[in-house]
Amino acid sequence: MATAKLILDGKEYELSVIEGTEGEKAIDISNLRNQTGYITMDTGYANTGSCKSAITFIDGEKGILRYRGYDIEDLAANARFPEVAYLLIYNHLPNQAELSEWRRQLTLHSLVHESMLNFFDHFPPTAHPMSILSAMVASLPAFYPDMDNVDVNIMRVLAKAKTIAAISYKKSIGEPVVYPRTDYSYMANFLRMMFATPAEPYEVSEVLENALNLLLIVHADHEQNCSTSTVRMVGSSQASLFASISAGICALSGPLHGGANQAVIEMLEKIHKDGGDYKKYVNMAKDKTSNFRLMGFGHRVYKNFDPRAKILKKACDEVLAQLGVKDPLLDIAKNLEEIALSDEFFIERKLYPNVDFYSGILYRAIGIPTNMFTVMFALGRIPGWIAHWKEMHEDPSLKIHRPRQIYTGHRKREFVPVWQRP
Ligand code: ACO
Repeated sequence: MATAKLILDGKEYELSVIEGTEGEKAIDISNLRNQTGYITMDTGYANTGSCKSAITFIDGEKGILRYRGYDIEDLAANARFPEVAYLLIYNHLPNQAELSEWRRQLTLHSLVHESMLNFFDHFPPTAHPMSILSAMVASLPAFYPDMDNVDVNIMRVLAKAKTIAAISYKKSIGEPVVYPRTDYSYMANFLRMMFATPAEPYEVSEVLENALNLLLIVHADHEQNCSTSTVRMVGSSQASLFASISAGICALSGPLHGGANQAVIEMLEKIHKDGGDYKKYVNMAKDKTSNFRLMGFGHRVYKNFDPRAKILKKACDEVLAQLGVKDPLLDIAKNLEEIALSDEFFIERKLYPNVDFYSGILYRAIGIPTNMFTVMFALGRIPGWIAHWKEMHEDPSLKIHRPRQIYTGHRKREFVPVWQRP
């Protein structure tokens, strides 16, 4: 077995090496502080493994992404989202009977407690749908307090999140809430709850259903990213599945993470309004004195290409053609990508379009409003968060997550009161 040697203050220490099934290697430092008095420092955790996990494999150099051993390209081309959710959570693809029951349960659990509807009425109309989603998911334990029934709670959060998302949209535009139906699929139910009105019949379009299915699948998991690590961090205190997922939603909302899909469309709209001068924006992104970044570009792990961005770029062409939509933002995005990929600044830093670069164009084509893009990401990511929360709780060696720090503040000081007690 390979080991690593560390020489510190003239003393030699042997550290064991851990190897994953795909040959990834780690130096085990779990006893380092006890042995040496030192900790390691890795701001942003770029070189730190926080756990062993059997859910998702990424090779950022080769652009490989696999859920439970299945290539993302295969799943995106052939699977349905509920099937992928089952795979991530239970580590095997469901057979016919398991899939039928899983789908039935997901539709049965789609309704939210009627009292929850009161909450929606008291958010200001300007409330961001991500705030509403995280608040509503955080309040689920109040309505469903039985925390021991993990499998039922898994179905509850998966099924209800899409209903919560659609209700928040209906409330924001002042239309009546559309209730879920048990005879509709996950995707069809969501589209119906979003877009049906009492004014006219609504038929779910197969093109939109398939586009949504693809989007949710490519977002379903991405190993130890910021929001998933948050779910694990919160869950490590034995906080409930609902509380942990609500925390994940909050982490996802930031523009450097899931919030980037909204930021990309806002950026493309700005370039469009500005006469389509995308070169100006590429130059701004290179200018270190401007705070501007090309949103939807760059990734901590992918250093060649993001396979999800490839899948979505192709889907943009196909779906827009099927719908007969011509979106000028798609042309701007493609031009931006082309010019950035041939520019030394982006080549040197290995900056490529990430999943968020093209997803917004598809969401727009489906009719999802821009401020709901990150909610869509969250709906896709919920199975991944559940899988990680479950994997962590099934590990008998689970410990509360508690990193260390190097303190750089004041040394001990005397307290001198500025006022006298009367
Ligand atoms: N535009 C311009 N320059 C960039 C960009 C960008 N989008 N991304 C990184 N850079 C530059 C940085 O300025 C830095 O340059 P320097 O070495 O000269 O200082 C270098 O590339 C490395 O960037 P870091 O911020 O150190 O990379 P990190 O791995 O920490 O960040 C991140 C990755 C957050 C995704 C970053 O690339 C970014 O901000 N991208 C834009 C936001 C975005 O699209 N986020 C979605 C990520 S995918 C997801 O969460 C689903």
